[in-house]
Amino acid sequence: MSLKESINLKRLPKHVAIIMDGNGRWAMQRGKDRNYGHKKGVDAVREIIERAAELGIRYLTLYAFSTENWNRPWEEVEALMELMVNSLNNETKKLVDNNIILKVIGDIDRLSAEVRESLDYTLERTSKCSGMTLIVALSYSSRWEMVKAVRDISYKIKEGKIDPGNIDDKIFENYLTTRDIPDPELLIRTSGELRISNFLLWQIAYSELYFTETLWPDFGKEELYKALIEYQKRERRFGKTSEQVHEKEN
Ligand code: FPP
Repeated sequence: MSLKESINLKRLPKHVAIIMDGNGRWAMQRGKDRNYGHKKGVDAVREIIERAAELGIRYLTLYAFSTENWNRPWEEVEALMELMVNSLNNETKKLVDNNIILKVIGDIDRLSAEVRESLDYTLERTSKCSGMTLIVALSYSSRWEMVKAVRDISYKIKEGKIDPGNIDDKIFENYLTTRDIPDPELLIRTSGELRISNFLLWQIAYSELYFTETLWPDFGKEELYKALIEYQKRERRFGKTSEQVHEKEN
């Protein structure tokens, strides 16, 4: 049986989030510069989007650029932004043809006008699609997102629109950039690093974590299938006992 055939399509995670790491190391191992690794990373992005949509995954979130990535050498930041603009321009039609909706989370105001224009174009073109939602985290970090949520809630309190005593998980979630998006059941990180790096800290409270040594440019469909198969072997208990979980299933 192939890896793909081993996946139980009835038990797919609705939402998969990925920390795409290792482009730089992949390039260095080949004696190339880091930006060559990022270019190859885009090929992997394309492949994973197509395969995830084909399987029937409803939401795919990709960590493309973190708040902390602004501190990289300026030439690398520029190259990544250019890659983003080119990818958006080249892939918009394909996204629409595949019925994929694009969403972006992050501090968009920090992006250049050129990047924002490309984003707006693709967001608009894909807004009527109804298939998989592709969420690109750009200039994103979880702490930025949570601090912003606290700030926005505080303004509402000041305006008398929220009673502090009523604040609960649901209200807080409504102020996150991921409102209306279910939490990921599976978080994948490539390249062997065992960290979360300020990504979706609130949303991954109960996510299954999957780490692989594979560097992002080498993360192809078989790697995605392996992660999904591993996910399906796990028992998700949400704080309950194993017996309680199985009782509910029966
Ligand atoms: C991590 O590798 C990767 C990034 C910071 C950028 C990821 C971006 C892409 C794959 C391209 C654009 C994405 C889209 C959605 C079009 P690293 O540079 O940290 O690698 P290293 O840890 O080996 O140095």
